[in-house]
Amino acid sequence: MNRKDSEDLVRVGPGTTMGKLMRQYWLPAAMSSELKADGAPMRLMLLGEKLIAFRDSHGRVGVMDHKCPHRCASLFLGRNEAGGLRCVYHGWKFDAAGNCVDMPSVPPERDFKHLVKAKAYKTAERNGLVWVYMGERAEAPPLPQIEATLLPESEVSIQFVQRECNWLQALEGDIDTSHFGFLHAGSISPDDVAEDSLFRFTVTNRAPDYHVTDTDAGTMYAAYRPADAERTYWRFANFMMPFWTQTPQGKFTEHLHNRAWVPIDDNHTMFISLMWRRHPASIGPDRHGRQMPGFSRVFEYQPNTTDWYGRWRLTRNQSNDWLIDREAQARGGNYTGIDGIHAQDQAITESMGPVTDHLSEHLGPSDMMIMRTRRRLLQAARAFAKNGSVPPGVDDPEIMYPVRSGDFLTAAGLQWRDAYAAQMHASVRPLEKQAAD
Ligand code: FES
Ligand SMILES: [Fe+2]
Repeated sequence: MNRKDSEDLVRVGPGTTMGKLMRQYWLPAAMSSELKADGAPMRLMLLGEKLIAFRDSHGRVGVMDHKCPHRCASLFLGRNEAGGLRCVYHGWKFDAAGNCVDMPSVPPERDFKHLVKAKAYKTAERNGLVWVYMGERAEAPPLPQIEATLLPESEVSIQFVQRECNWLQALEGDIDTSHFGFLHAGSISPDDVAEDSLFRFTVTNRAPDYHVTDTDAGTMYAAYRPADAERTYWRFANFMMPFWTQTPQGKFTEHLHNRAWVPIDDNHTMFISLMWRRHPASIGPDRHGRQMPGFSRVFEYQPNTTDWYGRWRLTRNQSNDWLIDREAQARGGNYTGIDGIHAQDQAITESMGPVTDHLSEHLGPSDMMIMRTRRRLLQAARAFAKNGSVPPGVDDPEIMYPVRSGDFLTAAGLQWRDAYAAQMHASVRPLEKQAAD
């Protein structure tokens, strides 16, 4: 990585290389439940742009520049009333598409509202998520066909968590399997783990080998290690353009989940987890039936505020050292002394600083997936910036659908692509089952 590679990867504002790439895709931006019809407008920062989101009286969602096109007062203060958002400075009113529909501060014969438009982005809503398209096409591309986003709202659990660092270093935690045996499970010995749990192999051999490849939608790795003389333990995970991941932590055939790392700006990221509700628990209890130390999966949130960075923050953060418990760290059991798998990931990636210093890294064989993913992103972003090559999944969203991750055992000696193909074939597909019923 040189300075230019690093800058091109991490900067997401308007006009940047990665910012242009990200604006080609629909972005998941909020939960539908965050916006009530005629409710208070919400500050929403996306890709470094300060936007206002609101739901009008008809239920339509509007997302527009927070600056009123008249004299730049913030529409956050606006009145959300009768089918539009009215600026409280001079009363100009805008509909969800940004059209100025009322200009009461001007005599009727001088009214020029038909000439004024707020900078509004196209929005869509599906299965509990609000999506925003920030690209320049007059006709937005189709919505993504990422499997968990296609599940009915009742079938999927949706969680948002803000992370105070650049999107890429946050995302890279999901495609870096070797950290699991340290950050999360460094003090857990195989003897602590239930006999029938695949998780045992992660803590028996903490240094797996890897296969890494480009895929239609992004990149994929298989981490593998011998389970015993006859069997191999596999962990597959995916990156999908431009910020989606699937982790290996779950039974492959039922591990229906997708995770997005949506940049708020260069230094803040919204993590969005979509998990099929019938997904089995990814790591069970220890051999005595107790939760393993530090493995809490419950998020403890601060109350949301109306600030640009006020949504979905955890109580553990940099200002309180993520509530690290040095005694728990020393006693064993919880390697970090920080409780909660997500909190551990949050602490470690935020500890790198707002944007990690790529030039100080020393990447090794266990970082092959990270290197490959950075390269894939840079190639796609530069190809788009240079000659407008449409990046993967924008016009062909169906390539995002048949992608799965997870862990499993096979007979030793099986080729990795054959192992993946067999698991894909055996995977549960609730949407296809519903369609067939
Ligand atoms: S600044 Fe908004 S109506 Fe004047
Ligand atoms: Fe992790």
